[in-house]
Amino acid sequence: MAEKLIIFDTTLRDGEQSPGASMTRDEKIRIAKQLERMRVDVIEAGFAAASQGDFESIKAISSVIKDSIICSLSRANDRDIARAAEALESAKRKRIHTFIATSPLHMEKKLRMSPEQVLEQAKLAVRYARKFTDDVEFSPEDGSRSEMDFLCRVIEAVISEGATTINFADTVGYGVPELYGNMLRTLRERIPNSDKAIWSVHCHNDLGMAVANSLAGVTIGGARQIECTINGLGERAGNTALEEIVMAVRTRKDYFNFELGIDATQIVPASKLVSQITGFNVQPNKAVVGANAFAHASGIHQDGILKARDTYEIMRAEDVGWTANKIVLGKLSGRNAFKQRLEELGIALESETEVNAAFARFKELADRKSEIFDEDIMALVSDEQQSH
Ligand code: KIV
Ligand code: ZN
Repeated sequence: MAEKLIIFDTTLRDGEQSPGASMTRDEKIRIAKQLERMRVDVIEAGFAAASQGDFESIKAISSVIKDSIICSLSRANDRDIARAAEALESAKRKRIHTFIATSPLHMEKKLRMSPEQVLEQAKLAVRYARKFTDDVEFSPEDGSRSEMDFLCRVIEAVISEGATTINFADTVGYGVPELYGNMLRTLRERIPNSDKAIWSVHCHNDLGMAVANSLAGVTIGGARQIECTINGLGERAGNTALEEIVMAVRTRKDYFNFELGIDATQIVPASKLVSQITGFNVQPNKAVVGANAFAHASGIHQDGILKARDTYEIMRAEDVGWTANKIVLGKLSGRNAFKQRLEELGIALESETEVNAAFARFKELADRKSEIFDEDIMALVSDEQQSH
């Protein structure tokens, strides 16, 4: 039996940290409902202590969502943790996610704390969070730039205090897949109580490697939870994209061999909803959810697709919530694709000679126009018929 991979969505928290992506309470509820429909395991609904609005959103989401665990972020201090607990009060299943930076740079320059102080604060935070729930996640912020000996001490201590998930954060997207995965594996090997917690990956996309790093964290490092966002939304260059993780694990089950609880047909609706609410357009060539992700423009590809879809498709558009794949007619299209579109439009030309003539006119037009729409085809065929 394949092991389960937990999908932790942080669109409503880390995704919202994208400049210009802030969402109202009602918008967050709509997205949370869509995430629940998609059967996401954990929804990080916000950062309760960050603002009254975030607090209210988490509170509302906690009372309407029943199937996913609801989580609030909190810094490693009592005030933040108590606020998170209050916002999560009505959640059927709740998680408090507390974090503190562990890299020398962050401790010295940002926190102005010694490593010993950070260690103590991390322990106290997890101990306090455990008073409200037995589901507590701890993140060493800037973990991938932290020193291994210190990380081992902090993580061992927070697991002893009752942290049930350890989230190894690549806060600034500095990781490289093999190195990031190996770091995680070394931590798990060196920390004596490491098997008392589920290990998680949280990657940013500054070097375009968030998805690859997350997957290496799973395969090399042994993580069993991936933190991600819809459309890869998030601070700076964004976070690990949920849709890419889900479809990589599913499409390459031969390699990853994990179970996911996700209903992938809800991916495109979720992508469109997040894009519409935030106003962030999805680039056309974005994997899985981009408008061109299942569009075929070249004649050779179109011909292949019409004969057998898996010649040029490794997954089905319908499996992720598109209504169908798309054959885009243009100057690279071949006669077969053109003929197929005529049939779909219910246009029956009398003879192969007529098809050839219509195809020649289509090619002429395609040289002048980058995409040929159904209306163009209908017009050129009716011209063709009138000329006879
Ligand atoms: O990127 C990061 O380090 C975070 C933590 C709060 C987990 O978002
Ligand atoms: Zn983050």
